Amino acid sequence: MTTARHVAIIMDGNGRWAKRRFLPRAMGHQRGVEAVRELVRGLEGTGIECLTLYAFSSENWKREEEEVDDLMNLMRKFIKSDLPEFIANDVKLKIIGDWQALAPDIVAMLKDALEQTAGGSRTIAVALNYGSQNEIARAAAKAATAGDITPETIAANLDTADLPPLDLLIRTSGEVRLSNFLLWQCAYAEMLFVDTLWPDFTPAHLQQALDDFANRERRYGGR
Ligand code: FPP
Repeated sequence: MTTARHVAIIMDGNGRWAKRRFLPRAMGHQRGVEAVRELVRGLEGTGIECLTLYAFSSENWKREEEEVDDLMNLMRKFIKSDLPEFIANDVKLKIIGDWQALAPDIVAMLKDALEQTAGGSRTIAVALNYGSQNEIARAAAKAATAGDITPETIAANLDTADLPPLDLLIRTSGEVRLSNFLLWQCAYAEMLFVDTLWPDFTPAHLQQALDDFANRERRYGGR
């Protein structure tokens, strides 16, 4: 049995969840945040040391302004309401992506949240304004400046450099693609694509995914 130390999730299907209920897309995102909250609460005892969540991609700016605003406001609300719980539950927040380019008030809130949770032992890494190709290009540029471009020096300069290797990537909602998420880190990750829409994804679904992972044989190119 192998335990997944680092799990990443592409949280997809909020819009379809709302549409099926004749609700505005914002309601789907709101329920998506609730699913995140429940998952974080359920982490204890799963063996997961780091959960990385794709919350806002660098391509998501192409959405309607109203939807982008809704997502940013949800982020503000989530940090405010859930920070005390993160601290109480020994959760360390990490942000990956070009998050410093977000609205100044969000950047300030995130910096404060990073400081306040720095002592936590279980990591929730949130991808904000994240694009994997951009992350790899930035890492390669840093490696080049230091004079040595190798897989190791690139990996050491990725936003995820201090996280355990990615074990399992999950995407919800039945879509089977990576959408510019953790391309480098997925080199040897197991992948699981489930039909469940993100707002319906529960800690029980995560446990099922972990059980599935535990039964897979990982060979890393060997036999
Ligand atoms: C994809 O659903 C989801 C997103 C683009 C945003 C994900 C964000 C959240 C779950 C909430 C924010 C998270 C945190 C940590 C506060 P979609 O809108 O593409 O769904 P669709 O494909 O069905 O339209």
